[in-house]
Amino acid sequence: ATLAGVVEYRNVTFAYPGAESPVLSNITFTARPGETVAIIGSTGAGKSSLLSLLPRLYDIAEGEVRLDGVSVSNLDRAEITKRVALVPQRPYLFSGTIEHNLRFGKTEATDQELWDALQIAQGGDFVREKKNGLNARIAQGGTNVSGGQRQRLCIARALITKPKVYLFDDSFSALDVATDARLRAALKQTTADATVIIVAQRISTITDADQILVLDKGRIVDRGTHEELLETSPTYQEIVES
Ligand code: CTP
Repeated sequence: ATLAGVVEYRNVTFAYPGAESPVLSNITFTARPGETVAIIGSTGAGKSSLLSLLPRLYDIAEGEVRLDGVSVSNLDRAEITKRVALVPQRPYLFSGTIEHNLRFGKTEATDQELWDALQIAQGGDFVREKKNGLNARIAQGGTNVSGGQRQRLCIARALITKPKVYLFDDSFSALDVATDARLRAALKQTTADATVIIVAQRISTITDADQILVLDKGRIVDRGTHEELLETSPTYQEIVES
């Protein structure tokens, strides 16, 4: 399976256009299908920047980001988004119905697929409660839904594209702990064969990750499982205790 969703970052160094110093330095890791790689670190450590490089929101100066063995600099964004779904930290909803917002990027999904995705994303109930259901209107920027509802709609939107790679940028932070746990349990089944890279604030969101990367000032300072990092990483221990 050559297009399975293998993600490789090789010695990636990245600076924003016009910036003097890099926000990411020498980032190397691999995420394979069936694996969850979590990224944790203090605010401004570079977590969102790291995710943004796979779908080529920015191009890197040094190193290489590979998707299924091919450098993403040789792939166009449309090609990448067929395989990679990014749920951004501040997900964007546009003026239109819930259905339009969900189908964004994938018009051929059936209504059943929309409801299935909403169910997994723990958004089925609040959409059903709306008078017009899938035809309920969303205001520009999603101002008439809560932050947690916005996150759930954007997770459902990602699920509908059936990607090989999911990038979740702090996508669970606006959810209460119980909803977060239910959503992740449902996601785990759905994404079992996919590659999942997840930026998290809450330790509980990532304790079962196959690999956790501890990012500090743009560098991976430690890596391992939750148990390993509790033993070996003072930076991780600080995050756990904070
Ligand atoms: N940055 C920038 N231009 C952008 C986005 C980010 O210059 N378009 C800078 C930020 O000011 C920050 C650094 O890049 O100094 C890393 O930002 P980010 O990747 O967003 O860090 P996170 O670890 O994701 O921070 P947070 O947890 O607060 O989201």
